[in-house]
Parts: sequence; structure tokens; C-alpha cells
Amino acid sequence: MQLNVLVLPGDGIGTEVTREAVRVLERVASRFSHSLKLTGGLLGGVAIHKTGTPFPDATAALAQDADATLLGAVGLPEFDNAPPSQRPERGLLGIRAALGVYANLRPVRTYAALIDSSPLKNHLVEGTDMIIVRELTGGIYYGTPRGIEGDSAVNTMAYSRPEIDRIARMAFELASKRRKKVASVDKSNVLECSQLWRKVVTEVAADYPDVELEHILVDNCAMQLVLNPRRFDVVVTENMFGDILSDEGAVLAGSIGMLPSASIGGKKPSGAWVGLYEPVHGSAPDIAGQNKANPLGAIGSVAAMLEYSFGLLDEAKAVTAAMETVLNSGRVTADLKPAGPPATTEQVGQAVCDAI
Ligand code: IPM
Ligand code: MN
Repeated sequence: MQLNVLVLPGDGIGTEVTREAVRVLERVASRFSHSLKLTGGLLGGVAIHKTGTPFPDATAALAQDADATLLGAVGLPEFDNAPPSQRPERGLLGIRAALGVYANLRPVRTYAALIDSSPLKNHLVEGTDMIIVRELTGGIYYGTPRGIEGDSAVNTMAYSRPEIDRIARMAFELASKRRKKVASVDKSNVLECSQLWRKVVTEVAADYPDVELEHILVDNCAMQLVLNPRRFDVVVTENMFGDILSDEGAVLAGSIGMLPSASIGGKKPSGAWVGLYEPVHGSAPDIAGQNKANPLGAIGSVAAMLEYSFGLLDEAKAVTAAMETVLNSGRVTADLKPAGPPATTEQVGQAVCDAI
């Protein structure tokens, strides 16, 4: 099979973890006899430096041409005081919107080898296996009006029925292939957007009679995630709640460096599905360039790409199995608190390649 992949390393540790993820992709392609065509592009702070904008038109065109896009991370401290429209993060929002990838899947699961890295007691976190389905192209991230004028600032949270309907269907479809439970997270005791969300999700649920639906308020959900994470199977929620809850979910699994994500749902003009794959962690400028970052979130995102964009399930399993082999070997980066000296980003990437 021909795999056309756009690689956007972005900023900070994005470049380091993406390098390892690409090596793993190359290894899988050669091991399973696929032909891999890699293209590079600019997104985020590096794109601002080189082109003056965080999401250059050239990158948009490359992303439309590719079968799938692998992204590192965006964000640089030098832009901390820049207005939102001129920050690296705007590049990420731009590419998500341009590709129409409205569903961001963030699987949170525990690995036996990492159980002691979790901040929770083992008996609480053991057996956790959920997927957070975050709405990615709507809500307060994109709503207008927005802006700052003098001492006033405004942002707008807006949702329409079709936007809620399609993300809810995505969640129910996933749940019907898993443990058949959907938890829909909202703030319907305060927000109108959440009231519409709850109504539409309830209506969609009628089409999935074998899936159990529970509605849960976001503050309670944040608490339940640490009290009893095992109770969750599929968690579906709007953009900003999903952003926050998935960081919380990530540390349950031991480290935010572990969490991969797949953003899907958009179609190309040709009708083909598009996908954007990125680790959940950010650009971590404090450890950038030190060969210390955990590449497993990025490598797990390669597994997600193989599964969702290419339907290559054996190849995806080969990657996740290799990741487990490496985790079990104890040769992991510092964030996973290894017993011995921590492995470097590069060593972990090499070890995953060797295990495939
Ligand atoms: C994420 C990140 C982004 C988001 C930032 C970098 C814009 O935190 O992917 O979770 O908020 O979506
Ligand atoms: Mn986030």
C-alpha cells in the first residue's frame, strides 16, 4: 500500500518525538512492505519564524494532498504575550478546522509496567481503559465574537445541532464496539450550549439501544476520573472540557507523554477520509533539545494513524505491542520514573523499532 504522510514536527519537543515516530513509521513500512512517501511542512512557531504565519497556505495545501498528517507539538514561550491570532497555537486550530477533523480520540489506558507511575493508588487505576472523544472544531475555541478591547474581553461558546449530532454518533459507534457505555459530559446546569448538547446526545442515543448513556456534569466528571476511572468507557464532550479532562486522564496512565491522539471525521474533496495524528502533550520548551522527552505519545499516534487512516490493523498492533515490550523492559524516559538511569528519546524510539 502507498502511504502518503505529511510530517509537521512543529516546536520544542515536537521535533524530537516526531523524529522517533517517523523512524517507527519507516520501520513498519519496510517490515510490512508498504511504500512510504513522507513530506515535511511548517506549522506553529517555526512557521511564524520562516513565513510570518503559524499556518502557511503551503502547509494547508500539503495537508489536503496527504493521506494523513503526523504532528508534533506547537508553542514557544517567546509568543506568550502575543495576541491569540499571532500565536503558534492558532496554527493548530487552523489545520484542525481546514481538515474538518471534528472528532479527537484520546485513549486513556493503564499499562501494567506503568502502574506505579500513576499518581493514583494502584487499586484505583488498575484496569482503566477509556477513550475520550473530544469535539475539536467548534465551541469556545472557534466561536465569535472574540477579542480584547481595553479592559474587556469576550469569547463565545456556540454549538449547533449537526455539530453535536455527528460527534455523538462517533462516540456511540465507538462504544458499540467496546463496553457499550457512553458518558456525555456537559455543564447543562449553567450553559445553554450544554442544554442543547444533552438534548441532541439523548436523541442520538435512541439509535443505539444497546449502548448505555449517562450524562455527567463536567465538575463531577473531573472528580470521578480520579475517584473511579474504571467506570468510564467512552467519554464524549465539547472542545474545551475535552481539552481539560484529557490532560487529567493522561496522568492516570502514568504520564502525559504516553497519550496519543487521532483527529478524524473530515473528508477530502475526493471523498477520502482525512486524519491528523498528534501526541496530547505540548511542546514542553523546558526540556526541548535535551533528548529527554517521551516519544511514546507520538509513536502511539503512528499506531492510531495506521489503524484509522489506512485500516492497517496488524501494523497498528505491531506498534502497540512493541511499545509494551519497551515499557516492560524498563528502558523508558524520566517522566515514567524508571528504576535505573532514564533512557533518551532516541533510545526509546530505537528500542520500539527494534521490537517491531
Ligand atoms: C491540545 C492542546 C491544544 C488545544 C493547544 C496547544 C491549542 O492543548 O491539543 O490539547 O488546546 O487543543
Ligand atoms: Mn490540551
